[in-house]
Amino acid sequence: MQIDTKIIAHRGSRGTRPENTLIAFKTAIDEGAEGIETDVHFSADHQFIIMHDETVDRTTNGSGLIETKTLAEIKQLDAGVKFSEEFTGTRVPTLQEVVAMLTKMHFTGIFNLELKTNKIHYPGLERAVYEYFSSIKYPFQLIYSSFNGKSLAILNQIDPQAYEARLFKTAAKQAKTLKRSKVVEDFHPDIRWIKRHPFYAPAKHLRPWVVNSTEDMQYCFERNMAAIITDYPGKAVQVRQEMRGGLI
Ligand code: G3P
Ligand code: CA
Repeated sequence: MQIDTKIIAHRGSRGTRPENTLIAFKTAIDEGAEGIETDVHFSADHQFIIMHDETVDRTTNGSGLIETKTLAEIKQLDAGVKFSEEFTGTRVPTLQEVVAMLTKMHFTGIFNLELKTNKIHYPGLERAVYEYFSSIKYPFQLIYSSFNGKSLAILNQIDPQAYEARLFKTAAKQAKTLKRSKVVEDFHPDIRWIKRHPFYAPAKHLRPWVVNSTEDMQYCFERNMAAIITDYPGKAVQVRQEMRGGLI
């Protein structure tokens, strides 16, 4: 079967490593992921912090909002021990550290950076991210995404060439409006939502999340969706290989 669907690791190989850490991203690439998805926030001193939640409580041994802490304070935290003692001492990375590692690994896949601005809209995050990527060379394909359509519109104003995708659980109408106004190229919907609305958009414009079960992976591969976003990239590579008749 012809399957062009790319496999994007959600917060890295999140099912097997502490999420949004360098080891989670490296493992995903080693397992054959063709994309990395991650989330960015601003610290109190306007540094790019790679983390999913707005607070450090769930994934580290600290507590409190990222936006109230400096990078130096965040670097004191342990981002591995809550996942497993085996990962004690794992640090919270900055965006620059992730990009440096991907560059060192000659990663040419998709780097999907989610601007985590739907709960706290960090002033200036869009421009800062744009200026950072404009100032460096990188080997991967950069795709921005956000649940916050305003962030995508701001980014699009700053850089009309930016490649953007709208994330959503249910706000499908707003997503289509952004597509019509050429702010976004593609859609990143919740897989549960897309299964209820299978004709929402052509498969080549869809990268659903979080596609973890074999059944959901097969559903997306059969339809040749652009990509899946999964916590288990290694498993997804295997499922896709079987469906391709053994071809990697
Ligand atoms: O990019 C898909 C996915 O990351 C969106 O949900 O909550 O994991 O950031 P969340
Ligand atoms: Ca995300």
